[in-house]
Amino acid sequence: MKILGIETSCDETAAAIVEDGRRLRSNVIASQAALHGRYGGVVPEVAARQHLEAMLPVVEAALAEAGCGWSDIDAIAVTSGPGLGGALLVGVSVAKALAYAKEIPFIQVNHLEAHLYANWIDEDGEDRPPPPFPLVGLIVSGGHTDLVLMQDHGHLRRLGRTRDDAAGEAFDKVARLLGLGFPGGPAIEQAARAVAKPELRLPRAWMRGTDDVSFSGLKTAVLHVVRGESPPPAAEIAASFQEAVVDVLAKKTAAAAEREGASAVLLSGGVAANGPLRQTLAARSPLPLHVASPLLCTDNAAMVAACAFYRQRSAGWDLDVTPNLPVAGG
Ligand code: KG4
Ligand code: ZN
Repeated sequence: MKILGIETSCDETAAAIVEDGRRLRSNVIASQAALHGRYGGVVPEVAARQHLEAMLPVVEAALAEAGCGWSDIDAIAVTSGPGLGGALLVGVSVAKALAYAKEIPFIQVNHLEAHLYANWIDEDGEDRPPPPFPLVGLIVSGGHTDLVLMQDHGHLRRLGRTRDDAAGEAFDKVARLLGLGFPGGPAIEQAARAVAKPELRLPRAWMRGTDDVSFSGLKTAVLHVVRGESPPPAAEIAASFQEAVVDVLAKKTAAAAEREGASAVLLSGGVAANGPLRQTLAARSPLPLHVASPLLCTDNAAMVAACAFYRQRSAGWDLDVTPNLPVAGG
């Protein structure tokens, strides 16, 4: 079964074709990051307008890259939330129109759940076994940070979440404070490479007795360092900040996975592209770690198509966007 996925929840206009939830046939992503970089963050109206312009060429490119015609496509999957309302609306409207015109079913997908499904995609044609249930999954993106227990497809329970900033949001805000540009995650990772072991020690909020995390205190600590007398170089602060975020996320995820008796750990979402997070979690987790290539960690439509195959939640013409949809919702 070939599913065409469509993703427009934030600032990537993406379309992809995935066969049977696992085989990647095409993956096209038009990023608006350069455009929003001028403003230091994603401007919702600008994002929606850009999606409108890019959407159909991106869908056509996904079909061409896969060598598929419309007659090869069995269903269309689309992210209906969470995300920016106007941005989501473009993807959902286009998915509905195409499904109606081509007379094929369309499937609604939760963006956060989709991030987890990047780990089901077989990128290099090797037939690896799928991740084994039960799984503990960490979803770390620009807008969300959730730790979930996944007993089976569609059986998700949130164990913990951020009490304030999402991990990606913290990376973006700290990068802005340090004048490193947008998006902040890759900029901080890059700057931190120059520092083998930071001397600066920033605080960690452990939120003991819960699987929750919190990054606003860390962000404020960075602000005080930056505004203090003779602040260390930006690279030193970036490395220390990254070390603190990675330390908390890796320790809490590994502990939850062990406690829940999981068979493996899934790392997903844009921040999962971060090298030190991938390495530290792999080293600290007593269980096998599944993490996709960085291109499938940040927003893409292949994860949407993969998720749709396993979840098959057919949507009706009255499907609306849900900007604040929770991870185990909808
Ligand atoms: O999942 P995603 O592409 O979009 C949302 O659903 O939000 O995540 C974007 C977030 C941004 O905050 C970005 O700074 C962060 O992921 N990110 C990274 C890296 N690449 C992207 N954070 C840390 N290290 C990276 N290499
Ligand atoms: Zn995302």
